[in-house]
Amino acid sequence: MDNGAKVFLAGAGPGGADLLTVKTLRLLERAEVVLHDSLIGADVLALANPNANLIDVGKRCGGKASPQAEICRLLVEAAQSGALVLRLKGGDPMIFGRATEEMEALRAAGIPFEVVPGVTAASAAAAALAASLTRRDISRAVHFLAAHGSEGGLPPHDWAALAAAGGTLAVYMGVRTLPVLAAKLTAAGMSPDMPAAAVENVSLPGQRIWRASLGTLPGLLARAAPGGPVLLLIGQALAQE
Ligand SMILES: C[S@@+](CC[C@H](N)C(=O)[O-])C[C@H]1O[C@@H](n2cnc3c(N)ncnc32)[C@H](O)[C@@H]1O
Repeated sequence: MDNGAKVFLAGAGPGGADLLTVKTLRLLERAEVVLHDSLIGADVLALANPNANLIDVGKRCGGKASPQAEICRLLVEAAQSGALVLRLKGGDPMIFGRATEEMEALRAAGIPFEVVPGVTAASAAAAALAASLTRRDISRAVHFLAAHGSEGGLPPHDWAALAAAGGTLAVYMGVRTLPVLAAKLTAAGMSPDMPAAAVENVSLPGQRIWRASLGTLPGLLARAAPGGPVLLLIGQALAQE
């Protein structure tokens, strides 16, 4: 196709409108069609071009399987109409954002696209905790983990390797599977005293923070029963002086 259509796959950051990048803000102001995830908040959508067609295509993580094929179909259809299309995803589009499927659909349809990065939930959670994800001589790696997979439960990560690696684990979609994840890590040799934290609704008005250890975080979160998205961080870098 050659009608000038282009799709922008952009990250909206973790929710707070002030964590949008300037580039994504400018696209929001211009786009004629905005296909957005459910996690994109009203404050962010309020910045969109008032004449834009805003379409919620999202599903909460860990909920029903997202109709990814339908999202890809809508994306291609919107671009083929000649509209300036913004596909707005929570956090960074390249981290647990199903960006690959959407880029493949656009490539297959011959539609040019550009990816615009966003602040991922792990970075925002680290900022909220005032805890660096890395720490000189203590934590030399960061592992981004999905704690909920297409199988419907905790994916089969290499727990022994993660426990031995000594980096910080940034765990997405982990509230429901945290008890199993903590058990797997401790069985693989990680100390139950390992510092851990959880941040719900990071950067949003309902932000809540829990600091604990790998052994105590599951019970703490079960009692708190967070209803919003939660990012978990586990590792020595979380230790407070
Ligand atoms: C499908 S993943 C999308 C991740 C996103 N692409 C990113 O880079 O942050 C959704 C998960 O991200 C985390 N998440 C997203 N927004 C969050 C927020 N505002 N506060 C805490 N965790 C968040 C949660 O673990 C949630 O279950």
